[in-house]
Amino acid sequence: MSAKLPIPELGAPLPTVGSAEMLDRLATRRSASAPLLAAPGPDAAQLQDLLLIAARAPDHGKLFPWRFIVLRDAAKAAFADTLRQRAEAQPDPDRARTALRKLEAPPVAVVVVSSPKAAAIPAWEQELSAGAVCTLLLLAAQAMGFGANWITDWYSYDRTVADDLGLAATERVAGFVYLGTSTEAPLERVRPDLAALTTVREA
Ligand SMILES: Cc1cc2nc3c(=O)[nH]c(=O)nc-3n(C[C@H](O)[C@H](O)[C@H](O)COP(=O)(O)O)c2cc1C
Repeated sequence: MSAKLPIPELGAPLPTVGSAEMLDRLATRRSASAPLLAAPGPDAAQLQDLLLIAARAPDHGKLFPWRFIVLRDAAKAAFADTLRQRAEAQPDPDRARTALRKLEAPPVAVVVVSSPKAAAIPAWEQELSAGAVCTLLLLAAQAMGFGANWITDWYSYDRTVADDLGLAATERVAGFVYLGTSTEAPLERVRPDLAALTTVREA
């Protein structure tokens, strides 16, 4: 699915009306299973649109404290090879290697990098914004008809992998967002008891 996305001019008034279709999709949002993601993934133009939407994440101070690394085709395969080597140094190499199936199956990986800026806005808020980017990317992918899954696994926390990816010392992986076509429909999972999580104060 490809659509010509609106790119609003700076200062342009934006829609305030609701969207029943969007509400419906939000109410049924579900991650795909990464090992069940197959080609086709988003092409270059579709990926550009997905990143355009993800980059509209709420961002205190308009710092844009995140960036993207797109891994596809030979580059993704080469990265997977590197991770297979890095897995040997993990406490449980078998488990670390098995986790790589989530990376190997999907055709496209977007690494969302949290890249906090030296600013008055607390780093925590900047990191939350990176998380919001990941969520928007999931939502946009689903709206475009793709399956998506936000994965961290061991390699998001490994400094040697961060170096392989070219991350600065201040940067961290917010998530690997895997994109492709779901080969099986995801099933509804358990949902929280909202009443137990919500306090409403009216007086
Ligand atoms: C920050 C973050 C990291 C995650 N990392 C992993 C992971 O490493 N492995 C995994 O199986 N699921 C991981 N998940 C969970 C899945 O992406 C997904 O959210 C979960 O399976 C629940 O499905 P749902 O998104 O459809 O509700 C992570 C989720 C978040 C928010």
